[in-house]
Amino acid sequence: MNDWAQQAAELTITRLLPRLEPLLKDDAHREGFMRRLHMHLPRALWHLHRIYGDQFDFFYHLEQLLHTAASYHGERREALKQLDAQREADPLWFKREDAIGAVCYVDLFAGDLRRLHDKIDYFKSLKIRYLHLMPLFMTPEGNSDGGYAISDFRQVHPDLGTMDDLRELTDALRAENISVVLDFVFNHTSDEHIWARKALEGDPHYKRFFYMFPDRTIPDQYELNLREIFPEQAPGCFTYRAEVDQWVWTTFNNFQWDLNYGNPDVFNAMLGEMLFLANQGVEVLRLDAVAFIWKQMGTPCENLPQVHDIIRGLNAMVRIAAPAMLFKSEAIVHPDDVASYIDWDEAPISYNPTMMALLWEALATRQVGLLRHSMTKRYELPPDSAWVNYVRVHDDIGWSFADEDAAELGINGFDHRQFLNQFYTGRFDGSFASGLPFNYNPINRDMRISGMCASLAGLERAEESGDAEQIDHAIKRVILLYSVIIAAGGIPLIYLGDEIAMLNDYSYRDDPVKADDSRWVHRPRFDWERAAGRHDTATAQGRVFTAIRDLIDARRAHPAFSDHSTLFFDTQNESVLGFVRNHRAMILCNFSEQPQKLRRDVLAAYWNIPTATRDLLTGEAFKIPNLFTLAPYDFLWLAD
Ligand code: GLC
Ligand code: GLC
Repeated sequence: MNDWAQQAAELTITRLLPRLEPLLKDDAHREGFMRRLHMHLPRALWHLHRIYGDQFDFFYHLEQLLHTAASYHGERREALKQLDAQREADPLWFKREDAIGAVCYVDLFAGDLRRLHDKIDYFKSLKIRYLHLMPLFMTPEGNSDGGYAISDFRQVHPDLGTMDDLRELTDALRAENISVVLDFVFNHTSDEHIWARKALEGDPHYKRFFYMFPDRTIPDQYELNLREIFPEQAPGCFTYRAEVDQWVWTTFNNFQWDLNYGNPDVFNAMLGEMLFLANQGVEVLRLDAVAFIWKQMGTPCENLPQVHDIIRGLNAMVRIAAPAMLFKSEAIVHPDDVASYIDWDEAPISYNPTMMALLWEALATRQVGLLRHSMTKRYELPPDSAWVNYVRVHDDIGWSFADEDAAELGINGFDHRQFLNQFYTGRFDGSFASGLPFNYNPINRDMRISGMCASLAGLERAEESGDAEQIDHAIKRVILLYSVIIAAGGIPLIYLGDEIAMLNDYSYRDDPVKADDSRWVHRPRFDWERAAGRHDTATAQGRVFTAIRDLIDARRAHPAFSDHSTLFFDTQNESVLGFVRNHRAMILCNFSEQPQKLRRDVLAAYWNIPTATRDLLTGEAFKIPNLFTLAPYDFLWLAD
């Protein structure tokens, strides 16, 4: 940023003040708004100028943005303005040891928004602090990519309730100190969104909201460098629409139209949608498919530098109008690119897809080398940001580790992915997993994996065979993976259903709308009957639920678990993952079904072992012997 942006921002504010003031009314928080305007507008202006500066009406657009920010701030409810003040005073709440997250579908978990109220006690029993509700807005009938094709960002899907219900729910959750997280599906709209419908009518203003081409010439040139995201169900990246005789850019499904952020009207409109959601009480926006929002001929159109300018511009505007709201990036890309979005001024929180994929890799190989090596290189983030660590979500598992990291250990990334795909689809000899292939691409032989955590960890097969030891191992694998994400720095995210060891649901195959998308195998209706047995440790769900609950309690009880430092180290045992938290706790996890030996002197090299050590999970004193054994799939949390 430079003096130019500073001066231009000050001039703009002075010039616009008479028009902004009426919007802020007799707002008690007016001063806060003005303070933040002076603080963040130069930053917004700087980024916006980089992408829109060559447009003759640049300052006109800037004024519109300020108008948008001031009007939404003016409409923000008192309770949310108080929340703004609270979050400004304590911005890093998401880094504390009590930051426990969960994610669910409203319909599959509870039926609708109103009935979700009845489940608040369930969230409280797991000490959830951060709740991601899967997309709940208006979508086309039939296939809507699980809600990710949005027809109206301001209307809740009628099956789930109304905007009033959503507001009431966010209020009720906030009263329990649970922050609501929603998706911001901003790379595309559905083809039934009003903007798309107007474009289909030929309205030139709205045609510019999307990418539309009269023939295949330009699409063909772009496609030379584009990756196909859904090669099986939606091949190609463009869709022909006879209504207008045009080809529309559709990175994902053919009914998901990519928005054109080269058009500043789109930026402004989407800022409005964002602030509208903030005013419903949403505290975290998950920036869906963030990597794809800028296109440039001759590039893969992923992770381009302009994406960062857009997100930083949006971030600055949101800080002005609704500072309680945070961005989380969903970038399932090369680890270097994942990291590129993470910053207080961009997206302070981010999924950790590399750790997720490598946890499964370590379970398959019984070796933690690649996980340890990658995390040693890549875990650390800027101090005011955090990972969202997860084992499963609604999407497939892509093996998005860095080939360079693998090569450094003598592993060939391509071959290793082939192995992992074989393993998790159960085709590899000795595999315990029941996963399904997702979007096999015969050209590059890329493939991803669908499946519920417990099924991928072996519970489905083990229960079919009735082998007690296999069942025991499968349950331990689920708990082991959750122990890592709960102990690591950041927000652990529970994919609800995992905590009661739910298995794959194959019924999607009978539904023509879902049958070609295997991700539905891991999107089951929450099984409340199974959940009823969650306190009975004779059942799989009882063992997993109580273990996860105890891990959460142990994490919340010790300051070693705030997100300060997570240092991975070499335990000198290839099957045991080790990391030290905040220099105060040591975590050891055995990724194999064999007992593993560990040496105290090795551990002592990474942790200044306190005189009195405690096992945080039993609460008992644990004196670390010179040589000791970690049982199959067992783990230890040791601290002072
Ligand atoms: C995100 C969602 C995924 C969806 C895609 C397109 O990656 O997680 O489910 O298919 O975006 O919106
Ligand atoms: C979305 C899709 C997922 C894909 C990813 C690629 O997240 O849902 O399947 O792997 O995009 O970036």
